[in-house]
Amino acid sequence: MKVATRITAATAVAVALAAGTYAFFDLRSRTGERRNTLEREARSVALVLRAAVEAQTTAFRMPTDVQLKALASATNGWELVVLPRTRASEIGDATSAPRFVRLRAVIETSRPIADVVGDRYIYALPIRVPAANDDDQLVGMIEISRDASALATTSDDLVRAIALVALIVIVTTIMVGALASRLVSRPITKLLSGIDDVAKGDLSHAILSERDDEIGAIATRFNEMTFSLRESRAETQRQNEAKHALEQRVGQSEKLATIGQLAAEIAHEVGTPLNVIAGRARSIQRKKDDLAAVEKGATIIADETARITRIIQRLLDFARRKVGTAEKSDVNLNELSLTTMELLSGQFSSARVKTRLDRAEALPRIPGDPDRLQQVLINLLLNAVQAMPDGGTLELETRVVERTRPGLEEATSTQQRFVTFAVSDSGIGIPPDIKDKIFDPFYTTKEGSGGTGLGLAVCSGIVKEHDGWIDIEDAEDGGTIFRVYLPAA
Ligand SMILES: Nc1ncnc2c1ncn2[C@@H]1O[C@H](COP(=O)(O)OP(=O)(O)O)[C@@H](O)[C@H]1O
Ligand SMILES: [Mg+2]
Repeated sequence: MKVATRITAATAVAVALAAGTYAFFDLRSRTGERRNTLEREARSVALVLRAAVEAQTTAFRMPTDVQLKALASATNGWELVVLPRTRASEIGDATSAPRFVRLRAVIETSRPIADVVGDRYIYALPIRVPAANDDDQLVGMIEISRDASALATTSDDLVRAIALVALIVIVTTIMVGALASRLVSRPITKLLSGIDDVAKGDLSHAILSERDDEIGAIATRFNEMTFSLRESRAETQRQNEAKHALEQRVGQSEKLATIGQLAAEIAHEVGTPLNVIAGRARSIQRKKDDLAAVEKGATIIADETARITRIIQRLLDFARRKVGTAEKSDVNLNELSLTTMELLSGQFSSARVKTRLDRAEALPRIPGDPDRLQQVLINLLLNAVQAMPDGGTLELETRVVERTRPGLEEATSTQQRFVTFAVSDSGIGIPPDIKDKIFDPFYTTKEGSGGTGLGLAVCSGIVKEHDGWIDIEDAEDGGTIFRVYLPAA
């Protein structure tokens, strides 16, 4: 039920009670007034009749019935009875007993009596006649009576009272209903629609702040709440943007670190063709008359230049790919392994490193960022090459394994599917005492030869971001195996 309806109903009930009570007492006081009027009339009629009766009463002789009838006919419908005092002793007559009781009371008190007996209104007065010793003597009672119906509440009165009560109730109900709807229902409805708007996410509305009552206070609090919600939403948005920008910057610097590694390698790789070009150019200078030698030298210079262009192109391709724009997608680590090995093929051959790529069949894809996962591969492969200064064997292997996460071995129920790739080299190996430092940023053992110490730090960051981890194992031939675990989709 609506609040306004409740208020209106409660008011209607209260008003009906109040008006009903008033009408009840009003009816009662009306009856009392009527009785007074009747009593006044009875007294004057009785006084007149008594005077007439007393005039006709000679000592101890009452007027006859005919005389009394004649007297009564002069009144407005009153019945007239005269009882002599001598008959006061007749109490005992069952039917007229009350009348004799009255006779005795009137004579004893010598006062009038007004009474309603059954459906008759009765007024009684003592009669006196002058006595010989000049004293008045009470000789009996005159009693007049008439129908008491004039005293009863008429149905007219009742109808009027009920109509009045109904009118008052209807008018107040309409007025209170209209007021309650204006002052309570409408503002609450507005408040509700404001709340609905907020629930739907629209925080732009202020509601009903113009009122200075409790509803206005609710609206004000509500507006304050909406305002602080708006503030905190904006704050969250600002924080998200800042976080996003920071992530971009971190990704950018990770990438720069990888490019740095790659560029150092490539600069080294470019050195060989440049030597060849320089040598050929000098020999052309010397043998400018030997056309065949000049032509051969020029061809070699063109080939080597093309090779340098390709090498530099590879670096540019990697560097130009934007950071942070790649959505997470399903990455095929087999494909990624192949393209990365190809990207670094020049480095492998100039470092006299033999490579082997061993890819698992039907390798599940993993959710991730292919560009960043390639950075991990590049860093691990370059580290492996650098660990084999005199050449050696490098192996890249992809696998699927079913296992628990490190530290959760006890809980066998948490078995999970992981895709792994492992880079193994036959290089110098990692001394046990530095194993827990190599992932620290700027930790390097290659100070003299352009190490940055960032490669593994970048790798571990990217792998953690993909919800995975990196294990290090010592290879049987003294080299190292870096194994990366990534959860399968
Ligand atoms: N495959 C590896 N074999 C031996 N040592 C390695 C290998 N990979 C990394 N390291 C050690 O970890 C250190 C940190 O590597 P990294 O973070 O890539 O920095 P950087 O290669 O610039 O030194 C290296 O300096 C090296 O001592
Ligand atoms: Mg490195």
